[in-house]
Amino acid sequence: MKLWSGRFRKETDALVNDFNSSISFDARLYREDIEGSIAHAQMLEKQGIIPPEDAAQIVAGLEGILEDVEAGNITFSADNEDIHMNIETILTERIGAAGKRLHTARSRNDQVAVDFRLYLKRQIGDIRAELLHLQQVLLDQAKAHTETVMPGYTHLQRAQPITFAQYLLAYAHMFCRDVTRMEDCIARMDECPLGSGALAGTTYPIDRAATAAALGFARPMGNSLDGVSDRDYAIEFLSGMSILMMHLSRLAEETILWCSWEFQFITLDDAYSTGSSIMPQKKNPDVAELVRGKTGRVYGALMGLLTTMKSLPLTYNKDMQEDKEPVFDTVDTVKMCLPVFAGMLETMTVRPDKMRAAANRGFINATDCADYLTKKGMPFRDAYTAVGNLVYYCQERDKTLEELSLDELKDISPLFEEDVYGALSMENCAMSRASFGGPAKAETERQIAAIEAFIQTREGA
Ligand code: ARG
Repeated sequence: MKLWSGRFRKETDALVNDFNSSISFDARLYREDIEGSIAHAQMLEKQGIIPPEDAAQIVAGLEGILEDVEAGNITFSADNEDIHMNIETILTERIGAAGKRLHTARSRNDQVAVDFRLYLKRQIGDIRAELLHLQQVLLDQAKAHTETVMPGYTHLQRAQPITFAQYLLAYAHMFCRDVTRMEDCIARMDECPLGSGALAGTTYPIDRAATAAALGFARPMGNSLDGVSDRDYAIEFLSGMSILMMHLSRLAEETILWCSWEFQFITLDDAYSTGSSIMPQKKNPDVAELVRGKTGRVYGALMGLLTTMKSLPLTYNKDMQEDKEPVFDTVDTVKMCLPVFAGMLETMTVRPDKMRAAANRGFINATDCADYLTKKGMPFRDAYTAVGNLVYYCQERDKTLEELSLDELKDISPLFEEDVYGALSMENCAMSRASFGGPAKAETERQIAAIEAFIQTREGA
């Protein structure tokens, strides 16, 4: 019998029963649901709304259910629709009349909202820890490559010399922002909807500040209609995860490029690569490709929930049951992507020789050459044109700038002297970019220290 069967005279159609039921996916909220119910029952007792004996039985009963669910001794039923009614039904079967007092001054609408927020706050904490670990892996790789010169690209054309450390640290900085986005998201969702009731609060003398505090929220939500009807926190979470996946996907894309035969900047470990069923020589970067691919489903979750929520009148509508699967899928996806990606980066072999060879070709020191002339007094725009002519001259002869003789250089400008060769060396070009945030060793070391401090302030927090 359904908890709400009183006003009905017919059984629910079997198809409707399945269609309406969310237990197949919201069962994973069992812990949060039980914690929310315990906090609610204890508050009801304290406020004199239910007798202490009943509250004690409810709390003990819920604790028993929690143990049994974790031990795998409980099967939920689609007939009880969702996790909230499943647990309430089991509780009442176990403790009798006292169980029927639990839902006093509460609705499934505030119940599901509090469960979902509790769940998300926890999951974001776990995801943040995984992301901090990935950042540490990037930092460790960066430490080993503060002097590994490689070409930096724009338009995927070789542009200027950087170091591999500088490159990895760019991603580490993006991930810092992803971490703080998660923290912002938690801070905004840290308000408790419990006590909003179905929508309009309640006539019972409940203590919303007490349940909020018991459940670890900063404060109760300020409006009961808002409390049961917004899912902005879930959308904000999906948005943060979409941005994180976008960053991961870019790094994945470059990993794929860089382990290709064309680049060979890195080699992925065998344990993080896969083979082909037909081509014996193949070693494929499936991990990076899957991370890039799964980015699509996370974006899909964001667009899906934004669209579900669009135009819903206040307050609760059943449409909102559709909030869970995209969020759960995103939690599972991101939680899988982060550790596997960290492992892939941790075990990859970097090929400084290949990076250096790529840096040699492509005139990535042309800006430095122009800067050389500029520092000798030529206006930058004139120096830029002179070096453009030099590049043309080199290309005709299949030479690099530093392979030209001093005479050839002087034909373009008498300002060139012997010291130009030092100025054009790729190592100098990378290392003398010592402006704040640049690739010079002291600068990448500063970045590493800053991000390590960022991680440390969060570890264990
Ligand atoms: N399973 C529902 C959900 O996930 C719980 C809230 C149901 N409330 C209601 N009035 N039918 O949204």
